[in-house]
Formats: sequence, structure tokens, C-alpha cells
Amino acid sequence: MDGESRALIDLDWDRFHPWRIQPVRHRLAAHPLLQPAQLVELGKRLERLGRVRTHSDDATPGTSFNAAPRLHPHRKSAAETLADIHAARAWMSLLNVQADPVYRALVDAVLDDIRPSVERSDPGMCYRGGWIFVTSPRTVTPFHFDKEHNFILQVQGRKTLYVWDHRDTEAASERARDRFHATHERDLLVWREELRERAQVFHLEPGQGAYMPSTSPHMVENGDGPSITMSFTYYTHATRRDSALHSLHERLRGLGIALAPVGHRPAVDAMLHHVGGSVRAVRHVLRKLAGRPVFPTSAPYAFTETY
Ligand SMILES: [Fe+2]
Repeated sequence: MDGESRALIDLDWDRFHPWRIQPVRHRLAAHPLLQPAQLVELGKRLERLGRVRTHSDDATPGTSFNAAPRLHPHRKSAAETLADIHAARAWMSLLNVQADPVYRALVDAVLDDIRPSVERSDPGMCYRGGWIFVTSPRTVTPFHFDKEHNFILQVQGRKTLYVWDHRDTEAASERARDRFHATHERDLLVWREELRERAQVFHLEPGQGAYMPSTSPHMVENGDGPSITMSFTYYTHATRRDSALHSLHERLRGLGIALAPVGHRPAVDAMLHHVGGSVRAVRHVLRKLAGRPVFPTSAPYAFTETY
């Protein structure tokens, strides 16, 4: 870490590898937009747009991440919950906050700041997004993974973050990864208590965080107080390629064609990616001609309709 740096996110960039989990530090804990009163206002704006995800504190590490809001509903409004998060017994995520002009400026400030350093080894930053998690004491974020690279930063309160390597097939099978990229379903990801021993564990306090590469499984347990956390996420050329390949493997499996895991046969991957890219381009043109929406993963910001 560079003690003289005034960067918003600090990490050892000489050790940075886009596919390696790494601790980071940040300077956002006192940021005015991340204080409770401001988040209540943001919650009101996003709730009107259907961009709030919430569940009760009954969710456990093994709860289905996708189904948690349905399995363990939390019925209070965002404003009411955020204003009294200490007693709300709720997990609440403000989704795609870059859709809000005020918070897009924060997403830009942080990601523009690190972009030159990231792109030295991982070019093509796009599909940028911001996610704010406001959670009651002892709530749990169920075991899951996401497509984006993720800088997760602790703003207020304490959390324990468990992260597994994206290649750890004990934590997430190749099939689970293929299916997730093809369908966004996480149903083949199965939690087991013994997985804790294989995780990298971060005891996060305000000012601390972690970098989690695309599809690194993770699970989070709140401390005894309320917590505010913000994630800054993006795709790169490499994550888009990886996602396209996994998705293609899943579709080919459906046709009875089983391939070696992504990354095991680079020449096959290269050929598949080339052919798959052409198919996707044709599909996009056809969707446009049919007047259907197209959500290219190369867009500058994540689409708020898809998460
Ligand atoms: Fe996540």
C-alpha cells in the first residue's frame, strides 16, 4: 500500500492480478453520499423504479440467493427500513445505483480513478455499476457468485466476508458456472459448512475491502451492529470472453456435446469464442430488426433492467 496516495481505492497494484482475490483499502467511509440520511433518499428514488432487493434476517448461508427475497420476505418500505436499519431485521441492496445521476458520479469517480491501473492487466472496462448494501445486525448474504469483477468496500459497521477462488471446483462446479453464465441461475451452487475452511476470510471494518474476480463465490456475515457496504463492479474483455465461453459450453452440453472445462483447451476456446461471437452478432441484429431490446455487455454501464 502507498501511504502517500490519495486514491479512493488503494491496493498493491504491482501484485494485482485480475483473477486473484486481494485485500484493498479505501477512503469512502466518510463520503457524504454513503451516510444513512442520504441513503434513505436514494432508497425512496430507487424503490419507485423497482431497484431495491430485500429479505429478512432469516436467510442463512445456504439460502438460495436468487430466491431469498421470496423465501424470506421483508415487507417494509426502503425508506422505513433504511431509517431504522438497526432494528429492521433486514438485508437491503440498492441495485445499480449508477442509474441515479447523483450516484453515477460516485461510481465514475471511483472506477475512473482505478481504471488505468486495472487496464494495465485487464483492458476493456465496461458495464460499470454500483451496489449499496445496508444490513441489520447479524444478517447474512447467502453463498453465491456474480458475473462482474467486484471491489467490495466496507463503509460502516463490521462484516466477515468469505471468498472462494473462481477456479475452486469444490466451491462451484464447472457445470454450476456454465449454467450461471447461460441462464443467470445459481441453483447448482450448493452451500456446505465445510467450505468455510477453503475460503479467504476478510474481517472487514470501515476503510477496508476486497477485490473479488468474476464468479468468485462469496458469502457475508454481518457483525453485531448495522452495516453499510458498497460494491463497484465492471466487466472487461476477459470477463466477457469467459462468460461467453461458459455460456456456450452449457448450450453445447444441452446438445449432448461435453467439452473440457473453460481454460483447459485454449485453442478450442479461441475457436468457440470466434464462432460464438458471430452467432451473437447475428442474434443481436435479428432482435433489433424484431424491435426487441438488446443489452450488449460492452455497454459503458450495467443495464438496470438486468441483474
Ligand atoms: Fe455478490
